[in-house]
Amino acid sequence: MRQILIIDESFTKYEDLRVQLEEQLTIEITTATDAVQAISLLNILPELDFILIDASLPNGLERLTKIEDFLIEEKLETTIFVLGRNPGKRSQTIVITYDLNSTVFLDAIKEQFLKNDAQKKLKDIPLFVPVDFQFLLEHKDIRFPVDFYLRIKISSEDCQYLKRLHANDLFSVEEIDKFKKHNVSNLYVLKNDFNKFLAISLKLTIESKNLESKNVLNKSFDYHLTKEMINLAGVDQETQNLVQTNISHMESAITKNDSLMNYFKLTKQNQNSFSYAHSMLSAMILTKVVSQFEWNSKLIKEKICYVAFFHDISILDDKLTKIHSDDELYEDVRVEYEFQNDSKLSDKKYKSFEIEQVEYHALNSALILEQIPGVPSGVFQIVKEHHGAKNGVGFKDQQSISLQPLSMLFIVVEDFVVKFLGIENPSKEDIKKILKDLELKYNKSNYKKAVEALIQFSI
Ligand SMILES: [Fe+2]
Ligand SMILES: [Fe+2]
Repeated sequence: MRQILIIDESFTKYEDLRVQLEEQLTIEITTATDAVQAISLLNILPELDFILIDASLPNGLERLTKIEDFLIEEKLETTIFVLGRNPGKRSQTIVITYDLNSTVFLDAIKEQFLKNDAQKKLKDIPLFVPVDFQFLLEHKDIRFPVDFYLRIKISSEDCQYLKRLHANDLFSVEEIDKFKKHNVSNLYVLKNDFNKFLAISLKLTIESKNLESKNVLNKSFDYHLTKEMINLAGVDQETQNLVQTNISHMESAITKNDSLMNYFKLTKQNQNSFSYAHSMLSAMILTKVVSQFEWNSKLIKEKICYVAFFHDISILDDKLTKIHSDDELYEDVRVEYEFQNDSKLSDKKYKSFEIEQVEYHALNSALILEQIPGVPSGVFQIVKEHHGAKNGVGFKDQQSISLQPLSMLFIVVEDFVVKFLGIENPSKEDIKKILKDLELKYNKSNYKKAVEALIQFSI
């Protein structure tokens, strides 16, 4: 569980914050009354996530200095939130000028948590990242600016990485034959080089095929890499380039004048990634839906691409992207409660970290998006509310009319897309049935209009 350490003589002013942190972010609060007590706690709990110090108190500054000195000496990167004006001397010390109980403060903590989580994940990536040998074979005339390694097993537990190709060199024919003969499926690049490799491989994939819709739909490979990179490595210049390329290729795909049925078929053929198929199909269909409204414009299309691309970006696992309601997320627990006595409760279908990931995915995805420059305004809010909750947490079934108009359309379109992709071999009858269900379900404002627009062009 995540932990925050509050250092203060009195804790009454933190009571509301404690309730919020525990309920909303499952953060456990530990307390210390002075720096000495705090340091002895930090010695036992070096993994602690945050420290909160009120530096505006008479001895607050002295306290802050002592804690910072300790963390520097122990090489701990723990984030300190400082109430007051003193910026401290570490980059991980953050000054909070808001009221302790304001939602802004809570949001700042949330955001910092997500950043810390991402950094922890980054540390967990192994030193070497596998890359597909088949892909390299298809581009054997390209000089990649990274070294390639071969993994050799030296015992049942250990392996060694041998450099087989230096940056900017080409594989020899003999070497390639040797790899083929030994059925090598992956070569490896250093973690720090992975960004470089990824950017080039994406460019190559896109350049190597023309942007016919069929090929565009086969780009889930790149979508996944981009997703992984954003989640594991955070947003840097390379990632921004990747996003740009992905968005522009999505834009060019949705402007193709293909029939909706054709999109359906092509997406169904592309079975290897649910999350990509559903993002792509949502973008295509939403563009068609929007064209029925007066606000159809180039900017709206760009917004649609960003929303479709980013709305589930914080979820890496396809199986979790498919969850679209509380009922699905907590499925097993409810079944157990209804049909068995309490003592026989089995495990939940999803692990608690998966549940948390799904619950917060809209907010988390929006926070990732916030780090990308040049995103059209309004997209952040739409991503946040794409499951009906304005704060981006959980699923809201009632059709809220206080959401952005485009959010309402997106909710209906995504509902359609998820139902459609859930059918093995959908026929025209299946599509009609889905639309009938949506017609019964959505009866308010833009939600209703979106269903009407869907029915219009799917006939
Ligand atoms: Fe989604
Ligand atoms: Fe989602």
